[in-house]
Amino acid sequence: MRYKFLPSFVKRRGRITKYQEKNLTSLEEFRIRNYDELYTSSSLFSKTILEIGFGNGENLIFLAEQSPDTLFIGSEVYLAGIGYLIGEIQERNINNIRIHKGDIRLLIEDIKEPVFDNVLIICPDPWPKARHHKRRLIQSDFLELIHPTIKLNGELFISTDWENYAESIEDVIAISDGYKELQNSKYENSDLTKFQQRAKEEGRDIYTFNLKKLTK
Ligand SMILES: C[S@@+](CC[C@H](N)C(=O)[O-])C[C@H]1O[C@@H](n2cnc3c(N)ncnc32)[C@H](O)[C@@H]1O
Repeated sequence: MRYKFLPSFVKRRGRITKYQEKNLTSLEEFRIRNYDELYTSSSLFSKTILEIGFGNGENLIFLAEQSPDTLFIGSEVYLAGIGYLIGEIQERNINNIRIHKGDIRLLIEDIKEPVFDNVLIICPDPWPKARHHKRRLIQSDFLELIHPTIKLNGELFISTDWENYAESIEDVIAISDGYKELQNSKYENSDLTKFQQRAKEEGRDIYTFNLKKLTK
């Protein structure tokens, strides 16, 4: 079967540790597979926030511990990262994180009404070569796809440490409908993820985009 979306993620060969493998056996306890499961879980919390491509989940854990009344949905395809996050959830007794394993666009397509108060995308895969730019997650069709899933006045926060990706995100925002660009976001001060930390150590800037969802 042909895959519906061009993959926006790199198939990492990274080894999964025994610890992560063991944690992955508990995935079902935390898993969100479809809209019905998302809807049922989110109705138990006052807010629902989605983080797409959480990597090892540093930012999700930071936010979830700060806001126990908010449900955090983390989406990731990278199994070692999912295994790592499950370990942290269990060790810290966190009750407000659920995991979507796989391409988030497949879940987004299934969502029937605005469910997310905010959506965060921190350092999406940059696909630096020009011939791979079409694989970048942040494109006009993605902003269009996710728009109906965000509540009115909800925020879509995006960051990247790649200048060329930042320029293309700026272009995409300029031609997109239904969002207003804000100057600041509380997520700018979130915990540094692995990729943000690396950018900082290497002296690279992090570019951020804060979009407020409006009606179209
Ligand atoms: C460059 S890493 C950044 C990870 C983390 N946010 C950080 O800053 O350390 C991008 C992550 O996004 C994930 N990803 C890419 N496309 C995705 C998609 N369509 N759905 C879910 N996750 C995706 C990748 O697997 C990868 O782990």
